[in-house]
Amino acid sequence: MSDEILAINGGQPYRTKSFPSVGNASGRMLGDEEIALLTEVIREGKLNRVGGTKVAKLEAEFAAIYGAKHAIAATSGTAALHVAMGTLNLEPGDEVITTTITDMGTVIGILMCNLVPIFADVDPRTGIITAETIAKQITPKTRAIIVVHLFGQMADMDPILALAKKHNLIVIEDCAQAHMSEYKGHTAGTMGTMGCFSFQQSKQMTTGDGGMVITNDDDLAYRARLFADKGWPRTGTDYRGHLFLGPNYRLTELQGAVGLAQVRKIGEIVARRRRSAELLAKLLKEIPGVNPPYITPGANPTWWIFSFTIDEKALGVSSADFGKAIRAEGAPFGVGYIPNPVFEYPVIAERKTFGTSGIPWTLPQARPGITYDRKDYPGTMQVLTHTFTMSWNEGMTEDDARDIAGAIAKAAKHYRAQKG
Ligand SMILES: Cc1ncc(COP(=O)(O)O)c(C=O)c1O
Repeated sequence: MSDEILAINGGQPYRTKSFPSVGNASGRMLGDEEIALLTEVIREGKLNRVGGTKVAKLEAEFAAIYGAKHAIAATSGTAALHVAMGTLNLEPGDEVITTTITDMGTVIGILMCNLVPIFADVDPRTGIITAETIAKQITPKTRAIIVVHLFGQMADMDPILALAKKHNLIVIEDCAQAHMSEYKGHTAGTMGTMGCFSFQQSKQMTTGDGGMVITNDDDLAYRARLFADKGWPRTGTDYRGHLFLGPNYRLTELQGAVGLAQVRKIGEIVARRRRSAELLAKLLKEIPGVNPPYITPGANPTWWIFSFTIDEKALGVSSADFGKAIRAEGAPFGVGYIPNPVFEYPVIAERKTFGTSGIPWTLPQARPGITYDRKDYPGTMQVLTHTFTMSWNEGMTEDDARDIAGAIAKAAKHYRAQKG
């Protein structure tokens, strides 16, 4: 299986077999249950959610497993976050603090509502914003915070919630990558005012694309439901009144059917992810020069991505070169996650938003002169250049974890020996 010579130097790779993938059936728990519910929808011939049963049941069961009062489905995680922002009905030019390391979907809802995104730096150990980094970005225009539980790990929520309370800020949890992750006995999405989820292909549960918003607030839930349905109440005297501006983010019954089968499996999916990932974390702890994933005290993650770092000095190798070595051994880790902080994408850096207006930054209500510069984000740059990441899934076995640890151990041993 392996010799001492690194595969990048012409040796045998530690592992040659590919790993299960979230991109197909190998790493997904999709099967007869989804097919049965989908078949019901097709036989009934009713594919849209209005008046249907599947999306409504998915919402009810999703709310139940989170212990939330309300769940409102949407067509994607991006849509769910847009629903959350639209539901708050903030004033154009108001500011929302979020993170530099996330999918663009976190920021799109902010911009769509003419709100100005403000970026807090991340803790280099987790890639997640903290009360300390958020506090530095609060201004008189700040109204809300979107916390992203990156990689399925958890933000340290207690100090963030305390800070938000002190400054009267709304907290939205972006749980797109953190379905069923826990923090001090609370499930992700239940600590803030609203929690937003993605059901995109790679997420812990999937409908291909899809999303969900949860909340315990009756008024916000009512508004969120309308926002995702063109502002249309569909009841009483307001039956055909479009009460305010909102898009159509209605999930279909086809997606509802798959989501319903998936939500019934989420416990098993999460248990499988934890079993293999926790073993890998344990094995990495035993390798000198390798730092296993840092877990926020009190958190129990659900492993969307498995991440770790190395002590470059102890191993005498750069993270970039170590990455090349372990990939050649058959452990498919990238370095970083997204290529740059989100504010360097053209949409933000070049203000490619609404025509050539530069809105929301140029709004008269907005704080003038807002710019973003990577030199103000040392934690972010550390994560993007030094954190090894590999997509995780419920198809990963304990043998897979042992192979990955073996490949990493082989490379670490080589560099330690070379260093002398
Ligand atoms: C943290 C985070 N937020 C938002 C999104 C957007 O979700 P979607 O791709 O379903 O629109 C994603 C998707 O990857 C994500 O990872």
